[in-house]
Amino acid sequence: MNKKSILKMRNVSKCYKDELIFKNVNFELKKGDVISIVGKSGCGKSTMLKCINKLGEINSGEIMFNGVNINEIPLTVLRQKIGIVFQEYNLFDHLTVIENLTLALIKIKKYSLNRSLKLARDVLKKIDLLDKQDKYPDELSGGQKQRVAIARTLLMKPEIILLDEPTSALDKEMKESVLNLIKEMVKEDMTLIIVSHEENFVENVSDKIFKLDKNGLKEL
Ligand SMILES: Nc1ncnc2c1ncn2[C@@H]1O[C@H](COP(=O)(O)OP(=O)(O)OP(=O)(O)O)[C@@H](O)[C@H]1O
Ligand SMILES: [Mg+2]
Repeated sequence: MNKKSILKMRNVSKCYKDELIFKNVNFELKKGDVISIVGKSGCGKSTMLKCINKLGEINSGEIMFNGVNINEIPLTVLRQKIGIVFQEYNLFDHLTVIENLTLALIKIKKYSLNRSLKLARDVLKKIDLLDKQDKYPDELSGGQKQRVAIARTLLMKPEIILLDEPTSALDKEMKESVLNLIKEMVKEDMTLIIVSHEENFVENVSDKIFKLDKNGLKEL
């Protein structure tokens, strides 16, 4: 079966001031693909994910999402369709777990409080953190925080999820729980771009692995 193309990058280049980070990035992601991007520290992996999510501007080329240039898509729409999870969780420290999970459902998706609470509790049950719903992020372990951060992205049901080194801030045992959650996401046919140094994990879950350097993205 021919899978639908969901994201395309054509001749994309990115500089910070005078410094070229990468050029000639060409790439196509299809619905349900799980692809990983590797490359040495500083080669621009995070920069590339941020460009896809429009947290940064590209200098030339184009990025198309479902056939539309991302510059033509309102930012709030794009960010709902393409979710990003960073290395450092980015939870709101002044909100409880359940408030972190329901905030965007209420404010952006305009769901009722009851519907949002139900969806959030269902996800918490799945990741085995229902008993933490009223805790604040600083009362959670690193692995628990990262699972909540991923759950928050999942609740928005984006079409693509970008994972930027989601386990690199975690020690060995905590990594396990986050990697297992990502494995579940892979099983559910989600479309993922993963940046990770976990070589075994990346090889196990990815349909394709690409290496990024100054001259572009090459399939390994
Ligand atoms: N906002 C910025 N302004 C200027 N330079 C930046 C900015 N963000 C990143 N850089 C530079 O761009 C290059 C790529 O950074 P980036 O964070 O994308 O690398 P990375 O591949 O994700 O590295 P790592 O594996 O260490 O996370 C680095 O040289 C970095 O110093
Ligand atoms: Mg990075």
